[in-house]
Amino acid sequence: MIIETATVLSTERAYEGTYITWFQGPGLSTNVEPGQFVMVHCSDEGVDPLFARAFSYHRVEKDRFALLYQVVGKGSGWLAQRQHGDLVRMYGPLGNGLRLPERPGNLLLIGGGVGIAPMVDMAERAVAAGHQVVAMMGARSAAHLLPASAWPREVEYVTVTEDGSAGPKGFVTQHLGKYQEWASKIYACGPNPMFIALADALRWNGRRQQPEILMEENMPCGWGMCYGCAIFTKHGVRLCCKDGPRFNLFDVF
Ligand SMILES: Cc1cc2nc3c(=O)[nH]c(=O)nc-3n(C[C@H](O)[C@H](O)[C@H](O)COP(=O)(O)OP(=O)(O)OC[C@H]3O[C@@H](n4cnc5c(N)ncnc54)[C@H](O)[C@@H]3O)c2cc1C
Ligand code: FES
Repeated sequence: MIIETATVLSTERAYEGTYITWFQGPGLSTNVEPGQFVMVHCSDEGVDPLFARAFSYHRVEKDRFALLYQVVGKGSGWLAQRQHGDLVRMYGPLGNGLRLPERPGNLLLIGGGVGIAPMVDMAERAVAAGHQVVAMMGARSAAHLLPASAWPREVEYVTVTEDGSAGPKGFVTQHLGKYQEWASKIYACGPNPMFIALADALRWNGRRQQPEILMEENMPCGWGMCYGCAIFTKHGVRLCCKDGPRFNLFDVF
């Protein structure tokens, strides 16, 4: 784990309520696995909010990396106001990332809302390693979707919206259809209700794909010290930050 003060390169609105900030931070950009995360101190004095906030790596390029985040409270609101040249203290990379299959295969990446953030890094690495990739994003409406331009051009991007304004209407887990049959491996990140629905959808014929999920429990410390992120799994209690955030879907749901 590296503790580093990263320099903000840019902050831009990505889509409704969601921002992307690029940082320069050589230590934090090294040896990163897709699905790992950083803990960001989202305040000038380090007092309010007191605890650092967890964000997944969205993209990594040489000594730079990007975070894609939804503004939901004080910390993420503070981050969205950082501009070129601002300094931000953080530590990472943390947790266990997603694992790419050794042999090229058909990978289905599923993101619910801002759970799509780590899937872009995953897609870039998967394409570079020769995998076929379909990325599915579920969102409230067209305004809440990551733009297609965020993906490598080799990726087939499928969108599902709750109001039907872009792609089929409903939840992403209701429209896996032919993509689930096509996939040799499935990865997902999103809220727990999405994982419950995904487990229901895959329970009978999705076990062969050994779905890997990234869980986003609240994490006060991020490295196994506070036990604030403990969850019950079929193998006992696990810490989301240290034992995860990657879990096998069926070990948890
Ligand atoms: C491993 C990990 C990776 C994450 N990656 C991303 C990411 O890439 N992009 C992103 O936008 N967010 C991500 N999150 C969620 C992010 O950490 C929270 O949104 C952030 O901590 C909110 O901080 P805040 O101070 O802005 O809001 P707060 O004031 O702390 O909270 C505002 C609201 O958000 C809720 N909230 C806080 N933390 C979480 C959480 N972990 N999950 C769901 N709801 C939460 C609170 O209950 C509250 O209702 C990740 C979380 C984890 C644990
Ligand atoms: S966040 Fe502290 S132990 Fe996981």
